[in-house]
Amino acid sequence: MKILIVNGPNLNLLGKREPDVYGNCSFETYFQKLVKEFPQVEFQYFQSNIEGELIDKIQEYGFSYDGIVLNAGAYTHTSIAIADAIRAIKTPVIEVHISNVFQREEYRHHSFLSEVCKGVICGFGLDSYRLAVESFIL
Ligand code: DQA
Repeated sequence: MKILIVNGPNLNLLGKREPDVYGNCSFETYFQKLVKEFPQVEFQYFQSNIEGELIDKIQEYGFSYDGIVLNAGAYTHTSIAIADAIRAIKTPVIEVHISNVFQREEYRHHSFLSEVCKGVICGFGLDSYRLAVESFIL
């Protein structure tokens, strides 16, 4: 089982960024735990603040990997281009968010990605990623 995790803009600052919303743990630290927890999974991890680089990565892995776990950050709420990339590939994508976007500002309530994703997981902190991975292996 091969799973790609993709993080979008500002998620490189996890652990430092708004810790009251996103917690104190960096993604690198969390990712190490995730890799240990799922020895049967071959993980790839990619983060970028640049929309086109996220699209390139989705296209690159989207015909050979078993699943993509995508936190597109704020691009979730703006990017028709990322939605089109998800439409274009074969690999199922799960949209994840660390925070419960529905408890937050109105502009975070709409996602261009949800309708083209297999499912959406939000509000479980970093554990949202683990739940997404589990859904692929169950
Ligand atoms: C986020 C929620 C988005 O609204 C926000 O722009 C982010 C992070 C989350 O994981 O909770 O950057 O995707």
